[in-house]
Amino acid sequence: MTDTFIAETPLADTREIIAGLVHPIAHIAPKYFYDARGSMLFEEITELPEYYPTRTERAIMSEHGAKIAQKVGAGGTVIELGAGSCEKARALCELVQPAHFVAVDISAEFLHEAADGLRSACPALDVRVVAADLTAEMPMPADLPRQKRLVYYPGSSIGNFNFPEALNLLERCRHLIDDDGALLIGVDLVKDVAVLEAAYDDAAGVTAAFNLNVLSHVNSLIGSDFDLDQWRHRALFNAVDSRIEMYLEARTKIRVSWPGAQRDFEQGERIHTENSHKYRVDDFTDLLNRAGFRHADIWCDSRHWFACVLARP
Ligand SMILES: C[S@@+](CC[C@H](N)C(=O)[O-])C[C@H]1O[C@@H](n2cnc3c(N)ncnc32)[C@H](O)[C@@H]1O
Repeated sequence: MTDTFIAETPLADTREIIAGLVHPIAHIAPKYFYDARGSMLFEEITELPEYYPTRTERAIMSEHGAKIAQKVGAGGTVIELGAGSCEKARALCELVQPAHFVAVDISAEFLHEAADGLRSACPALDVRVVAADLTAEMPMPADLPRQKRLVYYPGSSIGNFNFPEALNLLERCRHLIDDDGALLIGVDLVKDVAVLEAAYDDAAGVTAAFNLNVLSHVNSLIGSDFDLDQWRHRALFNAVDSRIEMYLEARTKIRVSWPGAQRDFEQGERIHTENSHKYRVDDFTDLLNRAGFRHADIWCDSRHWFACVLARP
């Protein structure tokens, strides 16, 4: 069994956070949702009746996983981006039977626990952990074989990026593999606006708590004094850009301070916290093509709400 830990890169950039807060259109990058509490809240979101992506992707994988495994072949390496709880990895590894598994995630503490769980469940699997910001770099263990790599990026997390950022990430995925490798990626598709908005604004308020938690995380990272009770969760579909946008909206006039600076927010002013792009299948395969993936096998659910795409160079 190999070491439990192979890399830790800087996971938070306080200058980036402050630049977002003082920007005329205030914003916080969605990667800052994921401290340990944020990761746990995301797990709760995946169980919500309104949040269809996780169960839809799981159903597609249950139905078509054996075919996917046959195409990928056993004995290679699975590299999961944004591995979170490693639950999807566990199911995939049962199907694909890789020799090595690399879990990449920014939420280091949560990832280490999840990787330990995977090790107990699959003692023969070589499990490595890369605590890294995948928008910056994804260092791989030096001794990781290059042949037969499968990059796994489930959960429609690719939707968090705008077009140039998504292209850049897919290109970097292409560079992680050789010609015998593949990318298996979950993509959320365009659908009825009411379904989309409910998925990001559930009745139980778990997504609201998840969104607000970013302010606690930012407080701990930059020493700011955000009071969560002063902010309200908003989730809206932007049809022009085909994406759900999440915001935190000031309930009243608010001054937020941190060492060396402050920002005043008017009542109703918003902090943009997340985009979640919804694709048409053809637009996504075009993007893959541009990133150097020439072949794509696509499996969807019967409602065409979600796609699992196996892309090859
Ligand atoms: C939407 S969750 C998906 C989790 C899991 N893969 C799934 O499909 O249910 C996004 C995951 O990506 C991680 N993440 C978000 N931004 C990241 C970044 N910039 N670098 C590395 N991991 C990131 C989060 O910590 C979280 O585990």
